[in-house]
Amino acid sequence: MIELQHTTKTHDESRQGEALDMLPTGQSTGRKLYIESYGCQMNFSDSEIVASILLDNGFETTRDYKEADVVFINTCSIRENAEQRVRNRLKEFESAKAKNPGMIVGVLGCMAERLKSKFLEEEKLVDVVVGPDAYRDLPNLIDKVDDGSKAVNVLLSREETYADISPVRLNSNGISAFISIMRGCDNMCSFCVVPFTRGRERSRDCHSIVKEAQDLFHAGYREVTLLGQNVDSYKYTKPIGEGEIPEPTVNFAQLLAMVAEVSPELRVRFSTSHPKDITDEVLYTMARYENICKYIHLPVQSGNSRVLELMNRTYDREWYMDRVNAIRRIIPTCGISTDVITGFCSETEEEHQETLSMMDYVKYDFAYMFAYSERPGTLAAKRYEDDVPEEVKKRRLTEVVNKQQEHSLYRLQNFVGNVQKVLVEGFSKRSDQDYCGRNDQNTMVVFPVDERVKPGQYVHVLIERCTSATLIGRIVT
Ligand code: SAH
Ligand code: SF4
Ligand code: F3S
Repeated sequence: MIELQHTTKTHDESRQGEALDMLPTGQSTGRKLYIESYGCQMNFSDSEIVASILLDNGFETTRDYKEADVVFINTCSIRENAEQRVRNRLKEFESAKAKNPGMIVGVLGCMAERLKSKFLEEEKLVDVVVGPDAYRDLPNLIDKVDDGSKAVNVLLSREETYADISPVRLNSNGISAFISIMRGCDNMCSFCVVPFTRGRERSRDCHSIVKEAQDLFHAGYREVTLLGQNVDSYKYTKPIGEGEIPEPTVNFAQLLAMVAEVSPELRVRFSTSHPKDITDEVLYTMARYENICKYIHLPVQSGNSRVLELMNRTYDREWYMDRVNAIRRIIPTCGISTDVITGFCSETEEEHQETLSMMDYVKYDFAYMFAYSERPGTLAAKRYEDDVPEEVKKRRLTEVVNKQQEHSLYRLQNFVGNVQKVLVEGFSKRSDQDYCGRNDQNTMVVFPVDERVKPGQYVHVLIERCTSATLIGRIVT
């Protein structure tokens, strides 16, 4: 999954405090919720479901954990350092809890699922541990803690998609939003903890997805990102009720078209595409709709076929290159980004060189790059020795990061002198004299404010120069 910000980083463990103070939608209890999220966009999207459930149960939200009655931390297990950050953060909550002993501290998400009730033994301040499929049970679990016990629900589900819950948009700019279209993952890449923390793959009702996109559009949103660990395996078949005519199964290409049809003014993005599953049908659908952004996150992980096999990615170097060629053929302007892991078990220097040469071949617009971190319980942890020394992993990572910096700059420089269609998101971080927004390829564009233009509108920007992460220009229409 891609990250929230489009800058060159070597990790994806982001943090988000609750930005808005929101009032309850159900009967008020006067209690305040604070929620903070780490990890991938799916977790951020889940926090919006959690907030919705608690607002319906009379909670309001707060930006300050020190004044909260319930503090939730939605966690990520993807790498060791992601878990370490959560543990450090929990330590920071200790003094707040000491001052306010009634404060409930809850751990949600992937770390909760991975560690289950062990969490309660390891971190004494934690009262509630809740896995990603058990959020409907939160009000009940909070009641249990109010009655003086600790509470755990880490049951994974084969059906839960939270399709009927309208997420509360947290930290939103009111212009772009995430829509979860599926949950879980059936792929079992050998390095990855996600199948264990998120359970089996299941696709959400396509009608509820389209309805959510329509509601967002009517509320003024102009960009939706469809989220799943492997969106290309989206597949929804409506269960048949008595006397009903069966509806045909909807695949990802068809879902994309359905969402794109909501309005030509609504941009559609998606993440993540798995190289083994991305079809030409998806690419042709992207080419057909102007409002489906020409940008694909296609994690390669390694450029070497032997390593890819050990990773259980189920494609090889040639297959990946063929998919890149198909993208370039069908959507010539398409941006491509990737994820890379360096120093996977037994990776040799020559194999690492193949990752670098793959990068040269694709010249990615953007990449998330990581040193391999062994995760307990995964296939790789059971089968292979984590035998590449830490300093070698780090050195290879530096080489990958340096190469990506060259390629990002190369891609950005190619935009200079061109006119780009940009969705205005708001003022730039640096100055309220400038607006910022993204082009189709997801690159940030900064340009002077024009009084007649408001956030949420599209503008055409002539790109005059660039830094390594940002395009700079001026509005031409
Ligand atoms: N479903 C997405 C991946 C989600 S995890 C996909 O298949 O692309 C995001 C990224 O974290 C992965 O693509 C991988 O590059 C990285 N990652 C996952 N497990 C890792 C591990 N054990 N060590 C280092 N990086 C890891
Ligand atoms: Fe993990 Fe692989 Fe599933 Fe991505 S596709 S979440 S890397 S198991
Ligand atoms: Fe996402 Fe981290 Fe879980 S990347 S699925 S929050 S392990």
